[in-house]
Amino acid sequence: MTDQSFAPRLPEEVPGADSTPLGEMRCPAPSVQEIIKNDAKKAPPVLAHESYKFLGSEDIGYERYYDQAFFDAEIEKIWKRVWQWVCREEHIPNPGDYYVYEVGHLSFIVVRQEDMSVKGFWNACLHRGTKLRSSEGCGSAKELRCRYHGWSWDIDGGLKHIPCPWDFTHVKSSEFSLPEVRVGRWGGFIFINPSEEGPSLEEYLGVIPEHFANWDLDKRFVELHMAKELPCNWKTAQEAFLESYHVLETHPQLLYGVGDANVQYDIFDDHVSRFYAAGGVNSPHLENPLTEQELVDRMLVGDRSVLDPEELKVKEGETARIVMARFLRKALGEKYKADLSRFSDSEMIDTIEYHLFPNMVLFPGISLPMVYRFRPIGTDPNRTLFEILFLRPVPDNGERPEPAEVHYVAEHESYSSVPGMDPAFGHVYDQDTDNLRDQQRGFRASKKRGQTLGNYQESRIRHFEQVIDKYLARD
Ligand code: FES
Ligand SMILES: [Fe+2]
Repeated sequence: MTDQSFAPRLPEEVPGADSTPLGEMRCPAPSVQEIIKNDAKKAPPVLAHESYKFLGSEDIGYERYYDQAFFDAEIEKIWKRVWQWVCREEHIPNPGDYYVYEVGHLSFIVVRQEDMSVKGFWNACLHRGTKLRSSEGCGSAKELRCRYHGWSWDIDGGLKHIPCPWDFTHVKSSEFSLPEVRVGRWGGFIFINPSEEGPSLEEYLGVIPEHFANWDLDKRFVELHMAKELPCNWKTAQEAFLESYHVLETHPQLLYGVGDANVQYDIFDDHVSRFYAAGGVNSPHLENPLTEQELVDRMLVGDRSVLDPEELKVKEGETARIVMARFLRKALGEKYKADLSRFSDSEMIDTIEYHLFPNMVLFPGISLPMVYRFRPIGTDPNRTLFEILFLRPVPDNGERPEPAEVHYVAEHESYSSVPGMDPAFGHVYDQDTDNLRDQQRGFRASKKRGQTLGNYQESRIRHFEQVIDKYLARD
């Protein structure tokens, strides 16, 4: 492990700084790939390779995070043109069940059909524009009826009824079906794309279906669902979760157990990137790292009685990771009544995080089972709705628990107050929220007009912003 007292303090003091091409420097600690090679149950092939490329070192301007015209262009050229996740299949299990999804000032409604397919519509009446359903959330209906004058549509979008039809003989029912959006389904998630053009969902997802083949996200249920309005732009919020560089300063309590400076960052294509952090190891920043047994003792919380005490000891030739994966496979397997024996040590304990453009973050791991979503709210570039869901394995008997209701957390309320949330984990999100408020304000306060990113650790942020620019450059 790196002894920080002898480590260089400034970039120009780093050995090889002059001669190494930009983007090729790495933390001197063991890489994720080196760490997982020593695991007892080996990681699947999709985790056993790297995919990084250097994308430049120029500053990225701040205006894009608060400028109204930039924000308005994002609505038109991104949110109206991309695949975006709306809800889980289990939110609309029966015909007539619907989910209203809002992003910026846009609003859509997806409805389960009689044949169990799903259709999606723009959520606005074709008479005089009133929203057919006023706000986000689930419901069930036999028809979609407007509250203003009572025009109504069947759940398949066909026009059903107009009061006083004698006054609307210029309306042809064949031309007054609700306008549809494209619907796609993957991994238990329902997606829409408001645009009729562009790739299919399958094409858009790129490597995701192949990488997630072993992770069965469709066989997970929503155990916890939290939502909070954050005082920042939707990109500001999201970018706090695309890098691990901030852990040292913002979450120092995590250093005993996560390889933060030696996280692996992968970029696969325009829409997909990955963060892969080894758990059960010391941070390379620690001057006095814990022993393997101390790592186990510090990180394994909860009921340890599922294992023989002997099995919690790190034996000759074992690592903390191996012991922790063994414990969690048993403990979580019993808790969720699911056989987790097929999962590698890495899948059990590591922080594996995929980003799907523009706003979905997926953790396929078993002990960190989160999904994040970041959405602009209304027309304000300085507000974001940030959701955290925990997806846990459905029991092997197939009895899927009901999806958790959304728990709204007030801006200054701690995530720790949410029932079912581990208080220590909630505190980590609180630390992030505090940064975001100050960062969003600092964008305007700063004399320097752009951010200077790390070439490797913050490469996913640069990649994300470059894809934003690509979309905005299109007609
Ligand atoms: S606005 Fe919907 S029925 Fe009149
Ligand atoms: Fe964080």
